[in-house]
Amino acid sequence: MKQTQTIPETFLGVGYTRDQAGLPLEAVRVPVPQPAADEVLIRIAASSLNPLEYKLADLNFMGRTPPVVLGLDLAGIVVTVGHGVSGVAVGDAVAAMADLNGDGGWAATGGSGGGYAVARQFLTVRKPPSLSFRDAAALPMCFLSAFAGLYGAVQAGDTVYIPGGGGGVAHLAVQMAARALQARLVISSGSRPQSIALARQSGAHYVFDYQRDDIAAEIAELTSGRGVDLVFDATYSERSFVETSKTVRQGGRWSVLGVGPGKTTRLAETHSPVDAILAERNAKHVNINLLRYFSEPATLDSEARGFLQHGMDLAMEWATQGLVVPHVSQTIDSTVEEINAGLQSLKASSGVLGKIAVIVDRDLAAEK
Ligand SMILES: NC(=O)c1ccc[n+]([C@@H]2O[C@H](COP(=O)([O-])OP(=O)(O)OC[C@H]3O[C@@H](n4cnc5c(N)ncnc54)[C@H](OP(=O)(O)O)[C@@H]3O)[C@@H](O)[C@H]2O)c1
Repeated sequence: MKQTQTIPETFLGVGYTRDQAGLPLEAVRVPVPQPAADEVLIRIAASSLNPLEYKLADLNFMGRTPPVVLGLDLAGIVVTVGHGVSGVAVGDAVAAMADLNGDGGWAATGGSGGGYAVARQFLTVRKPPSLSFRDAAALPMCFLSAFAGLYGAVQAGDTVYIPGGGGGVAHLAVQMAARALQARLVISSGSRPQSIALARQSGAHYVFDYQRDDIAAEIAELTSGRGVDLVFDATYSERSFVETSKTVRQGGRWSVLGVGPGKTTRLAETHSPVDAILAERNAKHVNINLLRYFSEPATLDSEARGFLQHGMDLAMEWATQGLVVPHVSQTIDSTVEEINAGLQSLKASSGVLGKIAVIVDRDLAAEK
């Protein structure tokens, strides 16, 4: 193990201390983790909020033994590397994603630093100097979700429907489809003027109001009755799943992020008509779920590692080129109160646009 500066033995993290405790999260003192052979330890400058964090607190579905510190999106400075790590060194500025069944790096210090987390080497990438720590930390989980749904699936010239283009995952997915993967027609939706505007700004050619418009009819008209080649639905809404499945063309692809139709609560399964709708169209139902890699270790094989690493590389490259840029609508300090308020808004679906960034170490984050 290689390290330079003094690292404390413990830090005051933000997380849950009881099984299925739910919100609010609490401050909890935990040991600073030691990196395994293929991991790095990062001193955190910035992180971001994801719905996964309140869901983990609510349900603890990765089967962890609390306390569990959250804050899985990471940007900061590498302070220790495991002995098997090459390509990233102590002192490097990086972006990373912690294992989704591991601990994160939120510190209850109000932005004055002291947060640490480990990440695997294949989920850690050097941060380009032109990208801020804040923006780098807004990318990993949402970018990888969009990447897993679209990369290799969208070809230049395709028609694509991505509902909810003002959301954390979907605003990146719209940019990826329209700008990086060069889809010919990208359609999106939203219910609020701000989210409709963000979907447009992200490159969607048409954005409909899912509360008011008959989107299936609009898409039929835009595609001469065919439907779109691919749907990527990251809304986690059964209502959306039913609507978006009606917009795929014969033989097209319907990708859903997460556990999918009939299972959105994770607590009880309901009957969903989605598979019958897709069967009428002979369309493929694809489940995209980053959590699977970590809950079923056999799925984290070398191919999966290579794929995710390529995703992390492209996240930095495309952000630097201005192709896929996170929209940070709110930046908060890493306090228990502010993190709880942000997660509560995500949970209530009340007005979050794009990403909420968390500044864990103000001084470090200001360095870029
Ligand atoms: N398992 C995985 O691998 C994985 C990874 C990442 C995320 N996820 C899950 O994916 C979901 C999305 O994450 P996120 O970070 O993008 O959340 P988010 O920022 O809260 O975005 C949710 C978006 O969905 C839109 N929406 C809600 N209902 C809709 C409907 N019926 N039709 C169209 N759009 C609708 C909202 O639009 P308006 O505000 O305009 O109404 C909002 O923009 C979360 O549930 C998250 O837990 C899963």
